[in-house]
Amino acid sequence: MTKNHIRIKRRSFLVGLGALAGVGACTISSKAKQVNDQTQTTQAQITNVKNQKFSVTGEAPLRDRAAKKGLIFGASARYNNLFQDSKYAARFAQECGVLVPGSELKWNLLRPSLDDFDFSKSDRMAEFARSHKMLFRGHTLVWHAALPKWFENRVNRQNAEQVLVKHIKTVAGHYAGKMHSWDVVNEAIKVADKRSDGLRKSPWLKLLGPDYIEIAFRTAAAADPKALLVYNDHRLEYSKSENEAKRTKVLKLLEGLKSKGVPIHALGMQAHLGVDASKNFNPQKLSDFLKDVASLGLKIMITELDVSEKHDLDIATRDQAIASVYKDFLSVMLDEPAVTTVITWGLSDRYTWLSKTKKRPNIQELRPLPLDAQMQRKLVWNAIAQAFDNAPMRKVEYEGDGAFS
Ligand code: XIL
Repeated sequence: MTKNHIRIKRRSFLVGLGALAGVGACTISSKAKQVNDQTQTTQAQITNVKNQKFSVTGEAPLRDRAAKKGLIFGASARYNNLFQDSKYAARFAQECGVLVPGSELKWNLLRPSLDDFDFSKSDRMAEFARSHKMLFRGHTLVWHAALPKWFENRVNRQNAEQVLVKHIKTVAGHYAGKMHSWDVVNEAIKVADKRSDGLRKSPWLKLLGPDYIEIAFRTAAAADPKALLVYNDHRLEYSKSENEAKRTKVLKLLEGLKSKGVPIHALGMQAHLGVDASKNFNPQKLSDFLKDVASLGLKIMITELDVSEKHDLDIATRDQAIASVYKDFLSVMLDEPAVTTVITWGLSDRYTWLSKTKKRPNIQELRPLPLDAQMQRKLVWNAIAQAFDNAPMRKVEYEGDGAFS
């Protein structure tokens, strides 16, 4: 495709989204009305994007379509689902080029006590990935959430650095050479906490001050020099002022780390999206942000993509709305050469974390992921497949011992 073609493609896409953004921009007065308006917004969006077929050629799975463009596609999974549901496991291995344990590498599951580590579940998942020629990705070494019950009583200002360093040395060391990438620090920025540096008032910040981030990255690099080290965060995608503010703080954090020579290789954008929030999605602002991140010499990974949707509409209509968000988002993201990886947070609607957090009465099951609850490909799958087929080619960067081909 010529440069001119790309520019035209991008412009018509922006115009299309602009039309989408204009719809439903009415003032909302009450909660009841809000739900009603949300429904109208969805229907209006669908009027704009109606009857998109998302047709793709051939039956190739997502991992192959991605790999063809030098991209990586994969998903997160939970241990029980992977090992108690053979149909799911088989479909996972077919579609995914990378496996991310959804929670099994978090402190609360990995650390039964201050002195112990339990790698039994995550090791079995790593072996599953290896045996199916998938990459394995770690989530997450440092996070304010999912800390074990003993944490509060056993960790204090005196021992916090030693506890953190030991955790990272042991865990990243355990998988050294076998991990594609690590989310070294997750969700460290929270604008609402009102610090000038934007840092979240997390237990780690309270115990160690802002340096905990740098300590974490340096320790991870020493423990596993081959893994890509990632700063991962959410709510970076939309264009509300709070998202804008968050992007600014994250960029500042990344700039600061790079200027100090901290070993950091990529930004992870969680991308938990929604159909209604898509009216606040601004392609230009998003792609400007990606360029700013890339100009720091960082790669960008989409790490937890899913699209929630809570309307009481028929399935075909809901699937159209959800798949359109995937399409619009991925089209901007994959136009940026620094974006290397697309990971959905789960593969099948049978197992989505949203069923816990976004459950509402009288609403049909959620449909945020590429496969339906029966493990069949659905419109979201097509939208992702099409996005890969249309994506510009990039260089394959991964050089670790994983099975990426
Ligand atoms: C979620 C898991 O998917 C759930 O199974 C668990 O109960 C809670 O955590 N952002 C993150 C992930 O970084 O770790 C979260 O995962 C989803 C939001």
